[in-house]
Amino acid sequence: MYNGLLHAHSGLRYVVLILLLAAIGTAYSNWQKGDTKDNKLYSFALIATHIQLLIGIVLYVISPKVEFEMISDRLYRFFTIEHSIMMLIAVTLITVGRVRSRKAEGALRHRTVLFFYAMALVIMLVAIPWPFRDLGAGWF
Ligand code: HEM
Repeated sequence: MYNGLLHAHSGLRYVVLILLLAAIGTAYSNWQKGDTKDNKLYSFALIATHIQLLIGIVLYVISPKVEFEMISDRLYRFFTIEHSIMMLIAVTLITVGRVRSRKAEGALRHRTVLFFYAMALVIMLVAIPWPFRDLGAGWF
């Protein structure tokens, strides 16, 4: 089960990143156009992020890389604290952004998505264990 979830979590990162980028691009252009309609992409990005969160929580419980006794080691510290906390912040930003955008009036809804999703995207890019960061994780 561990291997399957790890691969799912690793691959789903690209789905989350692509949906976030698409939502941000759409939000920018709809805001500029003064469009007042809601967009389904904003919800798709939220759903993909929440699925990633659920898999992440299970991994947090079963992963051998989450170990508080080993916190002085860079790799363990990354997965036990840094990755998880930063991703929780990113997921919260996306959730708050989506809820606020639903309540917002007119074209303001797009600006709300743009602001919250862009902040979340930056945090995610920093918190992903890209292979060049030497944290024992691959591209896929
Ligand atoms: C929502 C955005 C998230 C993204 C894009 C993301 C992405 C990733 C990636 C790319 C890896 C490396 C997988 C590999 O080794 O191939 C990883 C590992 C991990 N993630 Fe996440 N993650 C997210 C959220 C979370 C959250 C919220 C948690 C915990 C609450 C979490 C817990 C973990 C753990 C424990 C590992 C290490 C698993 C292991 O190698 O044993 N992730 N994550």
